[in-house]
Amino acid sequence: MNLSGLRVATLSLGERTPEQVAAYDSLEGTPVDHIDLTTVAAGDARLSDYDVCWWHRDRPLEWADDGDSTLAACADPLADALDGGVGLLLTLHALSAVAPLGIDPVAPDATGHETAPAQVGYLAKAVHRDHPAFETFHSLRIHTRAADADTAFARYERVLPERGTVLAAGLRGEDLLVDQKPLVEWQDGPGRVIGAGVGLSFAHARDFECAAAQERFVENLLVSLGSGRCPDFTDRPATTEGFQRLRAALADDHHRPDYHFAPPANWLNDPNGLIHHDGTYHLYYQYNPGGPTHGTIHWGHATSEDLVHWEDQPVALAPDPDGPDRDGCWSGCAIDDDGTPTLLYTGGRDRRQLPCLATAAADDLTAWRKHDGNPVIETVPDDLEILGTEHWEAEFRDHCVWREGETWYHLIGSGVTDVGGTALLYRGDSLDDWEYVGPLLTGDWEGAGTVWECPELLDFGEKQLLHVSNYAEVQYFVGEADLSTPRFEVESQARLDYGDFYAPQSMTDDTGRQLMWAWVPEARGVDPQWEAGWSGLMTLPRVVDLDDEGTLRQRPAPELESLRGEPVSETRELRSGARRTLPLSGNAYELDLTLERDAGATFELVLFESPARTERTVVRWVGDELVVDRSRSSHGHGAEEGEQRLPLAPAEGEGEGEPIDGHAHVADGGHAGRDELSLRAFVDGSVVELFANDSRCLTSRVYPTRQDAEGVSFVAHGGTVSVDVDAWALDAAFPR
Ligand code: FRU
Repeated sequence: MNLSGLRVATLSLGERTPEQVAAYDSLEGTPVDHIDLTTVAAGDARLSDYDVCWWHRDRPLEWADDGDSTLAACADPLADALDGGVGLLLTLHALSAVAPLGIDPVAPDATGHETAPAQVGYLAKAVHRDHPAFETFHSLRIHTRAADADTAFARYERVLPERGTVLAAGLRGEDLLVDQKPLVEWQDGPGRVIGAGVGLSFAHARDFECAAAQERFVENLLVSLGSGRCPDFTDRPATTEGFQRLRAALADDHHRPDYHFAPPANWLNDPNGLIHHDGTYHLYYQYNPGGPTHGTIHWGHATSEDLVHWEDQPVALAPDPDGPDRDGCWSGCAIDDDGTPTLLYTGGRDRRQLPCLATAAADDLTAWRKHDGNPVIETVPDDLEILGTEHWEAEFRDHCVWREGETWYHLIGSGVTDVGGTALLYRGDSLDDWEYVGPLLTGDWEGAGTVWECPELLDFGEKQLLHVSNYAEVQYFVGEADLSTPRFEVESQARLDYGDFYAPQSMTDDTGRQLMWAWVPEARGVDPQWEAGWSGLMTLPRVVDLDDEGTLRQRPAPELESLRGEPVSETRELRSGARRTLPLSGNAYELDLTLERDAGATFELVLFESPARTERTVVRWVGDELVVDRSRSSHGHGAEEGEQRLPLAPAEGEGEGEPIDGHAHVADGGHAGRDELSLRAFVDGSVVELFANDSRCLTSRVYPTRQDAEGVSFVAHGGTVSVDVDAWALDAAFPR
C-alpha cells in the first residue's frame, strides 16, 4: 500500500493472529508503530502522535481477556486523539469495539465467521458514490474477498448505529445484501472513524482481483482517514444545510420529483404522525437511514408553513436497542392530548408488534420522549384468532386515535385467520390504558385481503369513512360507525386510488379540512432503486370530503396553486387523428383539462414523450375508463409496464346501497351525445397523479429513460374531442 508519508499505528488487543499479522504486513514500505491497546488503556501510548490508527481483528472481542474493561479505559484517550484529528479504522471484529470505545452506543448485532461460494464485498450507497472509500472503483459493487474464503465478520443487520452513517450494504456475487450494513462512518469530530466489518482476508487472499480491490479499498480508507480528507457529508444530517447538501447530491436524477415530497435520500414509506401544530404542518414518515430499501425503520420528519414548501428535520424517532421498538418504529399517528402532542406507533421486536407511546419533548416537535410504560398494549385480543405468520406472532399494527367527549378511541390494523383483514377498536380514558371493544369492521379475505394495515376513520358528520390498506390497494367504506357495539354499517365501498398508492393518512388542519397524504411506492426493482439512492415519495396533499350525496371527493389542496408559473392555455377541437403538442418544458407541471368528446371517441394525453416518440406514457380516456398505458414509458429499468385503469362510470350497486367493489359517479352530462371529463394531472419526474372529476384518483409511477422525454401532446381518435387546457410549470418544494 502507498500511504505516502502518513504516520500510522496498528493496534491489537492480546496476541496477534496470523490474519492480523498478514494485514499489517500489507503496509510494507510504510513505517508503522505497533501499539497494544492495554498501553492505551494505561495512558502510556500517545495516539495523537499518529495520523491514522488501524485495528484489524479476526477474533471476536469477547475472546480477549479483560477486553471490555481495557476498551472502556481506552475511550477517553481515544476521544482526545479523535478530537485532535487522528483517524481510526476498525476492520472485521474491531467494528464491534465502537460501543465499549464510546464511539456509538449501538454495536453491530451480527458477528461471526462465514464462507460464501461467491466473491463477497461492499455495495456502496449511491449518495456516497464520491466518498474516498470508493475512489477508483467505477461501480457501486466492490468485491474484496475471494469465493470460499472463511472470514470473520461484524455488521449491523436488524439495528443501525445510532450516530454513524452507513456507507455501503453487503454484496455476495451479484446479490445485493441490502439488509447488511458493514461499512459505517462516524463524523463526530475532526478525527473520523470508519468501520469495515466484512470481506477482508489478508492471510488467504487467493483471488488476484479481489486481493487488489481489497488493497485499494483499505488504502483508500487509511489515506482519507489519515489525511483528514473524509468529506463532511452524511446521509443522516442534523442541520438544514446538511439536508440541502444531501438533496443536492441526488438533484441530477430526472426521476426525482420537484414538488412532491421525496425522502432526502434512502427509503420512505407511509406518512405518519400528521399534525398541524402551532400553525406548522408536520409530516413524519417511515424512513430507513440505512439505504433505499425497507428495514430498520425510523421516523423521518419534515415541516411546512404553507403545505407546499418543505423543510427537512432530523430523524424524529429511532428504534431503541433496549426497547420494544428495537427492530423498527412503524406506522402511527399524532394526537393532541390537551396540549401535549403525542404519538402512538407500532414498535417491532423479535416476532412481536407492540403499540408504543411518545410525547413531545420539544415545542417544534423535533424531539419525542418515549413512554416508560411501553408497550401500552401487551397482547392481542384473545377472543379472535389473530393471524400470525412465519415472521410475526400476530399481525397487529398501525394506529388511528381520536377523542369523543372524555373517551379516547383507537383503531389497530389486523387480520383474523381464515376470515380476513380487520380494524380492531379500543377505548380508554387515557392514552396509555386501553380496553379492547371489538372489531369495528372485518372484511372477507378473498375480496378485501387477509390483513388490514393503517386503518383510518374519518368523520364527516352524518357519515364516516373508513379506509384500510390490504397489501395490494387501499379500500374505503362510507357508512356509519357505531363505536359501542362496535360496528361499521357499510353503505358503499371502492378504491381510494387505482394506481401506486398505499397507506394513506390524514390530518385535520386548523381550518377543519381533512388533508390526506399517501405513500407512492416505486414501480421498479431493487437494483434501480439502489442505483438511484432513494425510494418512495408522498402524494400531494389532498382535501378529502363527502358531497351531499355521500360521494367521496378528492381534490388537490388549493395551496398547490401558489407553485404555478405562467399559464399555457389552449382551447381546441381535436378531430379524429389530430395531434397537438403543448408548448411546455421541463418535467414538473400541472395540467387542468376540461374535455368533451363525441360518443365513441377516445382521447389520449401523451406525457414524458421523447423527441422520436420511442418513449411515451399515454393516459387514455376510452369508454368509461382512464387507462395509464406504461408499455412504452421507458426502455428497460426493470419498471412496471402494466396498464393501470381508473373506472369513471358508476358501477352497479355503487353509491347508495350494497357494499360491493364499485366505482364513483362521474359527471357525464355535457351536450347531447357527448361526455365530459374534468381531469387534473400532476406530472413530476417519475410520478403522474390524476384527479378525475375532483373525485377519482390514479397515481402512477413511470421512469422515462431519456432526459429529453418531456413532450406533452394530445390526440383524438374515433371522433372529435374538444380540449380546454391550462398548464403551468410548478415550482419546487425545496430550494434548488
Ligand atoms: C404499511 C406498513 C405498516 C407498517 C409499516 C412498516 O406500508 O407495512 O403496516 O407499520 O408499513 O414500515
